[in-house]
Amino acid sequence: MTRFTRRDVLKFGAIAGGSLLLPLGLQKRSYAGNAGSPNVTRFSLPFRSAPVLNPVRSDATTDYYQIRVNKTRVNIIPGLSTEVFSYNGTVPGPTIKQRKDRQSVVRFVNDSIGTPTSTHLHGMASLPQYDGYAEDLIPPGYYKDYIYPNNRAATLWYHDHAIHRTARNVYQGLAATYIVQDDLELGLPLPKGAYDVSLMIQDVILSPNGSLVYDDDGQDSLMGDIITVNGVPWPRMEVANRKYRFRVLNGSLSRSYRLALSNGSKFTMIGTDAGLMGSPVEVANFRLGMAERYEFVIDFSKYPVGTKIVLQNLSLPNNEDYDNTGVVMRFDVVRQEPDDSSVPSTLRPYSVIPTSSAVRTREFRYERSNGLWVINGKVWDVNRIDANPQVGDVEIWRLYNNSGGWFHPIHVHLIDAQIIDRNGRAPFPYERGFKDVFYVGENESVRVIGKFGPHTGKYMSHCHNSVHEDHDMMNQFQVGTGGPDPVTAAPARSLPAPPL
Ligand code: C2O
Ligand code: CU
Repeated sequence: MTRFTRRDVLKFGAIAGGSLLLPLGLQKRSYAGNAGSPNVTRFSLPFRSAPVLNPVRSDATTDYYQIRVNKTRVNIIPGLSTEVFSYNGTVPGPTIKQRKDRQSVVRFVNDSIGTPTSTHLHGMASLPQYDGYAEDLIPPGYYKDYIYPNNRAATLWYHDHAIHRTARNVYQGLAATYIVQDDLELGLPLPKGAYDVSLMIQDVILSPNGSLVYDDDGQDSLMGDIITVNGVPWPRMEVANRKYRFRVLNGSLSRSYRLALSNGSKFTMIGTDAGLMGSPVEVANFRLGMAERYEFVIDFSKYPVGTKIVLQNLSLPNNEDYDNTGVVMRFDVVRQEPDDSSVPSTLRPYSVIPTSSAVRTREFRYERSNGLWVINGKVWDVNRIDANPQVGDVEIWRLYNNSGGWFHPIHVHLIDAQIIDRNGRAPFPYERGFKDVFYVGENESVRVIGKFGPHTGKYMSHCHNSVHEDHDMMNQFQVGTGGPDPVTAAPARSLPAPPL
């Protein structure tokens, strides 16, 4: 896969001082005023999981949580202090774990970031006024209580969605994992508890003094030269020689990954964006676009204690933008443990939505035009609706990208959908599940099918390269007629807040 256009290569070559004579694979991109982030020895820092957030209180139906959105300092690199935006003081923010059909009320308090935020729980079918609509802002000094129905068992994530600020706010730290589990999933013999591990992969650039460098290459893409997992650069995770379930999320702004194990072993894909697949699929590697989530099981019992296995990123092997971005983390098998977990051959009921059930097809073209990122030639307009499916309508959306220079992971809010085909060919086996992000590669046309509802109202759809999203590759659809207005139905309120 080629990520960079000839224009980009020329530009990088020019910045690097005429290194165009070097073969492409030897070129290291540099950027204005910075020779590259401070060095970190790969696999020297211990893996950690984000903290799990406890509710402030609970009643028969609902758990109430509070999250302060604030500026704080963290050590991404030991000894260097980095100012970030955080949810409750950590990057990534705390994980919320919830049971399906119990409701969450999450209060986000914008106390010190000095810029508006909006919070989207990506993957949840929330009402419009709780969906983190880009113009439904929480200004500094305000708070908002979001209501989440938790009607899907899946690995979700919550992140900033402020209009024209999403890339910067997420880059500065506003992203976290949110897991919903149901009885069916918990009844399966899959690895659980400490053996069910979330991995949020991101990439950043740091200046020599530790501050975050935001360089989006002329509103194109932000490509970091440090890969972090749960906020730690290239961590080393000590594992027992047994099976682990991993829930991986690409929280990068612009970087796609192709994940593989350094020993070439296959592993078992069990879930997509919207939860468990129908049945497991063995793969040697898979592609992970921004905002996509996949779940997989690695069986470390095949390896003797002492084995080290690197989780690699095979994307761009011959066309790397930076050194070191071809590896993500390392698993060190350090102890023996019994293992009573297994991966059943059926995970949950799943059936393909017949294309004959679609009542219409819509087309959305994603392209760059006069420096802007546009959909069907248009930028975001809060007053324009580009599609109006009725509740219960099954529609086919053809998403296409006529460029050979870049790709777009397209996110549709509210619904879970299935990929029918990509350039007329079947989706990859590991994509055969419900999804809410659809990777539209270079010169690709992807058809997806999904049912709209259950809510009426306005919802966004956009490229999840958040640099593209901010400038301005986002539009909206209206389900049915009317519905709660996303901006006025539950506006943010000024502090102080009453008790939750
Ligand atoms: Cu993950 Cu509209 O976003
Ligand atoms: Cu894009």
